[in-house]
Amino acid sequence: PRPFAYRNRTLHCDGADISALAEDHGTPLYVYSAEQISARFQLFEEAFKGQPHTICYAVKANSSLAILRLLALQGAGFDIVSGGELERVRKAHKAALTKVVFSGVGKQVWEIDAALKANILLFNVESEAELYLLAARAEALRIRARFALRVNPDVFADTHPYISTGLSEHKFGIDINQARAIYRKAGKSKWLDAAGVSVHIGSQIRKVDPFAAATARVTALISDLKKDGHNIRYIDAGGGLGIDYGTTAFNPAQQVQKYAAALSKGLAAESSHLIIEPGRFIVAQAGALLTRVLFVKKNGSKTFVITDAGMNDLIRPSLYHAHHEILPIKQPRTAAPSITADIVGPVCESGDFFARDRVLAAVKPGDLVLILDAGAYGMSLTSNYNSRPRPAEVLIDEATVKLIRRRETMRDLLAPEVL
Ligand code: LLP
Repeated sequence: PRPFAYRNRTLHCDGADISALAEDHGTPLYVYSAEQISARFQLFEEAFKGQPHTICYAVKANSSLAILRLLALQGAGFDIVSGGELERVRKAHKAALTKVVFSGVGKQVWEIDAALKANILLFNVESEAELYLLAARAEALRIRARFALRVNPDVFADTHPYISTGLSEHKFGIDINQARAIYRKAGKSKWLDAAGVSVHIGSQIRKVDPFAAATARVTALISDLKKDGHNIRYIDAGGGLGIDYGTTAFNPAQQVQKYAAALSKGLAAESSHLIIEPGRFIVAQAGALLTRVLFVKKNGSKTFVITDAGMNDLIRPSLYHAHHEILPIKQPRTAAPSITADIVGPVCESGDFFARDRVLAAVKPGDLVLILDAGAYGMSLTSNYNSRPRPAEVLIDEATVKLIRRRETMRDLLAPEVL
């Protein structure tokens, strides 16, 4: 069941009345359901229980410490892409550091050093130059580095071009045809442990066939690498399983099962420990952005609903033309009048919109609306553009409301600056 639903004609998140949240914490406000996050994580655990696996939640999707801790306590590992994300994992649940995989095309010395010292599980290395830097740092620190080459399988996944990564024209990974030679060179360094192979083809991928294709290519490579004498123990299949941002019926459990079936098809008889890096699928639908209508205005033939949240609080519609459902907090009567409007923020950009030409129940200034499916790549992509403080975040956990991040203040906003 979706966590956000009407009860007594008012939207609730699990047990909590959302209009009360606005009173207590102000708007814009991110609201998350702990129950939904756990349930989604467990879908993956369930689907992969027949084989050795680690589910490394992609921290970038939502890096809130409280959410990381919630997942760590259920046994999650983490996929990180920066020294900052490493520090978040350390702070959320130190013991989870040994279940961290480190991806990203631009790792720096200080980040590599911090991750080596933290004894993370695996470096997902994205270029030959990065591999030699890793070897040098491992030698300097006298810590052997477990690595996987992130290969680029040249597999097409149908998603927005900004979040597709598995084609040779993308900056990600190492050409799969060159991988074997690079592993051979790496085998000469005693500071490098060629422990696995990884792949990630993109994000918000709705059809599972590309996952099977990419995994099959990696499986073939692993068999060659084993013939070459490498002790490969891990296969990291990346993240990317998409959700439904619309209103059509969507069965998450079935989707995860299909995904698991596609991966096993690609894996065939390969028995390495499987790592996956889901982000969006776990947190997107557990979160929503609550915002208040400031004004309703007309320009020519168009109606604009102006909210107190803007593109700095949720950039997905502006950046990818992403669709997010928007619901009024008070459930409209069936005969209630509707309007066709652009829902826009206060930021000084025409690209600052949440929806265009959207039909919704007539709203007036002061009304609250909820932007759904904002739990992934919402808060983690916020900025202070237009000198707007970032929103607060609450986590609904068994009907108790936990403030997990307070609203930024003017003092926070100006703190780093020197005059
Ligand atoms: N692993 C790697 C190496 C990644 O680059 C990503 C996402 C993931 C895992 C997690 O993918 P997911 O399961 O969440 O699809 N800001 C965009 C999405 C960017 C995805 C970046 N990489 C959006 O809002 O749609």
